[in-house]
Amino acid sequence: MNLRLSTLTALSLVVPYALGIGQQSCVSFQSSSSAFSVVSGKKAAPILISSDDWPGVQRAASDFVADIQRVTGVKPAFRNVTDANAQAFGSLPIIVGTLGKSPLIASVVNATQLDVSSIEGKWEAYLSRVVENPLPGVSKAYVIIGADKRGTIFALYDHSEQFGVSPWYYWADVPTTKNSQIFASASGCSHGSPTVKYRGIFLNDEQPALQNWAQETFTNGTGAPFNHLFYSNVFELILRLRGNYLWPAMWSGKFGVDDPLNQFTADYYGVVMGTSHQEPMMRSTPNEFTDRGKWDYVNNKAAIQQYWKEGAERSKNFESLYTLGMRGFGDLPLSEDTNIQLLEGVIADQAEILKEVYGTDDVSTIPQVWTLYKEVEDYYTRGLEVPDYVTLLWSDDNWGNIRGFPPLSQRNRTGGAGVYYHFDYVGDPRNYKWIISTQLQKVHEQLSLAVARSSTQLWIVNVGDLKPYEREIEFFINYGWNATRWTPNNINEFVTSWAQREFDVTPTIAGDISSIVANLTRYNSRRKPELWNSTVYSLINYREAETFVADWNTLQAASTKIYNSLSQSYKPAYFQLVHHPIIASANLATMYVSAGLNAMRAVQARLSANDLADTVEKLFDVDFDIETQYHTLLKGKWNHIMDQTHIVYDYWQQPMQNVMPPVTRIQSRKQALPGVMRIVPEGTFGSWPGDNRWNCKDGYNCPDWTLSLNNYDAFGNRFVDVGAGGPASIHLHPSLPKSPETRVYASVVDWSKLSDGANAAVLTFTAMSRGYPSLSNTVPSEFKGFVESQGVVSIEAAHSSRSSTVGDTTWTELPGLGKTLSGITLLPRQDQSFEIGAGPTPLVFGVALDGGEPIRVQPVPASSRKGDPPGWGSNNGWVANSINSQVVTFSGVTPGAHTLKISGMETAVVVQKIVITGGLTDSYLGPPESKRV
Ligand SMILES: *[C@@H]1O[C@H](CO)[C@@H](O)[C@H](O)[C@H]1NC(C)=O
Ligand SMILES: *[C@@H]1O[C@H](CO)[C@@H](O)[C@H](O)[C@H]1NC(C)=O
Ligand SMILES: *[C@@H]1O[C@H](CO)[C@@H](O)[C@H](O)[C@H]1NC(C)=O
Ligand SMILES: *[C@@H]1O[C@H](CO)[C@@H](O)[C@H](O)[C@H]1NC(C)=O
Ligand SMILES: *[C@@H]1O[C@H](CO)[C@@H](O)[C@H](O)[C@H]1NC(C)=O
Ligand SMILES: *[C@@H]1O[C@H](CO)[C@@H](O)[C@H](O)[C@H]1NC(C)=O
Repeated sequence: MNLRLSTLTALSLVVPYALGIGQQSCVSFQSSSSAFSVVSGKKAAPILISSDDWPGVQRAASDFVADIQRVTGVKPAFRNVTDANAQAFGSLPIIVGTLGKSPLIASVVNATQLDVSSIEGKWEAYLSRVVENPLPGVSKAYVIIGADKRGTIFALYDHSEQFGVSPWYYWADVPTTKNSQIFASASGCSHGSPTVKYRGIFLNDEQPALQNWAQETFTNGTGAPFNHLFYSNVFELILRLRGNYLWPAMWSGKFGVDDPLNQFTADYYGVVMGTSHQEPMMRSTPNEFTDRGKWDYVNNKAAIQQYWKEGAERSKNFESLYTLGMRGFGDLPLSEDTNIQLLEGVIADQAEILKEVYGTDDVSTIPQVWTLYKEVEDYYTRGLEVPDYVTLLWSDDNWGNIRGFPPLSQRNRTGGAGVYYHFDYVGDPRNYKWIISTQLQKVHEQLSLAVARSSTQLWIVNVGDLKPYEREIEFFINYGWNATRWTPNNINEFVTSWAQREFDVTPTIAGDISSIVANLTRYNSRRKPELWNSTVYSLINYREAETFVADWNTLQAASTKIYNSLSQSYKPAYFQLVHHPIIASANLATMYVSAGLNAMRAVQARLSANDLADTVEKLFDVDFDIETQYHTLLKGKWNHIMDQTHIVYDYWQQPMQNVMPPVTRIQSRKQALPGVMRIVPEGTFGSWPGDNRWNCKDGYNCPDWTLSLNNYDAFGNRFVDVGAGGPASIHLHPSLPKSPETRVYASVVDWSKLSDGANAAVLTFTAMSRGYPSLSNTVPSEFKGFVESQGVVSIEAAHSSRSSTVGDTTWTELPGLGKTLSGITLLPRQDQSFEIGAGPTPLVFGVALDGGEPIRVQPVPASSRKGDPPGWGSNNGWVANSINSQVVTFSGVTPGAHTLKISGMETAVVVQKIVITGGLTDSYLGPPESKRV
């Protein structure tokens, strides 16, 4: 008896919540008086659906049945109702259907007088609830009603997710959380029309990973990899995520040709098909454009028109969203002399083709999109006109910064506007398609601008191989599904509920996973791993490289702890979604920094250079072990999905093979010229003793190195590395670790014993002596703020002393965004009436010192609509560096207290960090934040 009671208590503690990310909850696993039983006492409510309903709804309903069985082990009866006489179906059913399509639902609505006005006629809206006496002989039922085909499908998948089936059960092997009973609440769930009408993904640059995997998984090695077996899984995923749109794989893929079932299957599932920005009229171009002459609209117009007409004919029976316009092959501009008139002609001719194929004079009801990508955006700003009903798709700069939004005068176009975004990219200044390197915080910040500027007709994101961007894809679609649900302050909540759903962990562990994910994506987005090398993070200043490696180690340890704590069944999902990108990136980071230290220590004649060479070789191999671990997971289910090469790029394109960064060695059997011991103080490439250029500017007779430290220093100490220069062993103090290297820290134990100004101490290492001054500074007692040290004041933007509000607009922190802590931006967003031609989302702010006139800063010049702005590209440009650093110079500034004021002039500016300096040393992230008094 006792035992039973405690078991019951334990159960009720374990299953308190149903998890649908960001959704209204209408599912529980405990009985209550009003709740409707989906499954209890090993009996499942039968599912009724009209045989007249959409095939896609019937198909999703069969997933719904399977999902209930996955969770409870009980399979509900599935009744395909051919008339409204439901007496035969027993009591207490779940009745599913679409308004205007299901006679079954029509009679339920009629009989119960259920008010469906909140969803009727609304794109993709749905509701569910308990009703009394819906059908003759049925006393009570749970109805799930969609306003249209996808409304019903989304309602079913919303419930499935809350029951415990992750949308990623196939794509990331997320186990289903079991429950013996499921209940739906009497009031049910509902959702209105989504914020964004078309929400989709673009499979792109799918070689090597996705293509090799699909080839092996769906074709037994022969045939086109992207067949309907492959796509069925993609369509189901998109719908479970409440997305509705796809641009199919197009490097080698030909969606409409590779498998004659592809287009049909998309429509059957309920996914709207399109083609990428460079492939007009539902054809995979250039792959399908063979034996038809040149891709030249001036000289080969008839053949191209015929080609497009066939594309429209092939697609007209399926839900299709037409890409218009024309670009050259390989996503390049059409030709040097392409002009606006020619492109306007192309679009007019495409309308004629649609009229003919669809047999209508009015093509405005056929969804059409035209992408303002690269040079096309310039044509548009120069006046190219497209019909009002065509959606204009504004694009990002391929690096996650949206280049423009419709000006106010064009917000009322009936076709609306949309956004083409990237999580994955092939091109300048570097491909990024190996691993996650996008922050959800940034995705939110950019897309919230799209919401504020009425660009919500269509969002599509380039997701490369689909994996490994699972979480980011879900956020992108979910945010488009309901943009009011997510704010800068609850993105952590998104990740926390995601972690609970995927790994069935406690809220506390889900919180840990959320901060692990935040750190992973911060470390990989402040510079994408494809752009790492051995000297990006400073090897000598601000302890930057070693902090980079230490941070990765901390992150890896935290992730490993969670990985080890999970049961066997959850490990594969956690590995794919969290752990793999961490261990793979941490390994890569450590390898590059080790290579940098190896080169540096070799010129410093330090024997430890050789250990680092070994480390680099080992980690280069570990990289392949980690890839293999992914590929052998679950008996090889994901073989090839991590085929992407990613080590040592020499220009934008991927290397054809991973290449180990160069390492070097010193002669370990020979003594270094200056003797047995090498002394390397912090902050210099130099090593003592010695007389070459690494020791001082003149190359010989080098003075002793001076280290200085003050009481406002971020680290609070200085170090000196002491190491061997060759085979002779050095005798270190017995308390120091035995190795070819040791690090000696020096600090001031009691600053109060020092007088203000410079105080010197001498550190002696056997034969050498070094000056070691300490600077004790006293700031005026009334001073409040950040104190200079080593010639810099470094301030996280969110840590300002004051922030003022103008109207209701105020600097607001975007937690977790950016390279080090967060960013600040002005919210709510003002809807500027800026005009096209004023530059991509004009970003302007002001900087003023001590109440002076603000200096106006515009990081992206007005002239940059055509092509990339100056400073954007190269390995050292602002997308590679993931920051647009702006320098403002003030002259005649004297030592003492100062006030720096940043004023917002346009609401799209995000400020991350302020560095005030007279003597900045090189680093990637800038100095660590200064001490504040
Ligand atoms: C339901 O019945 C209709 C008409 O008989 C049929 O076309 C459809 O395939 C059936 N659906 C399922 C899921 O059995
Ligand atoms: C609606 O219900 C009423 C009774 O409440 C019935 O007389 C009528 O035939 C029903 N109409 C339809 C279309 O089912
Ligand atoms: C979006 O989410 C919010 C907050 O959860 C909710 O109040 C609102 O009804 C949802 N929007 C739609 C269209 O359902
Ligand atoms: C691949 O081979 C297996 C085993 O022979 C077979 O069951 C499966 O249907 C094949 N798949 C395809 C797509 O040919
Ligand atoms: C859109 O608004 C502008 C003024 O802002 C007006 O000139 C134009 O005619 C409107 N277009 C439509 C299609 O309503
Ligand atoms: C994540 O980053 C924060 C801020 O830098 C740090 O305090 C925390 O220890 C890190 N957590 C892990 C697990 O890496």
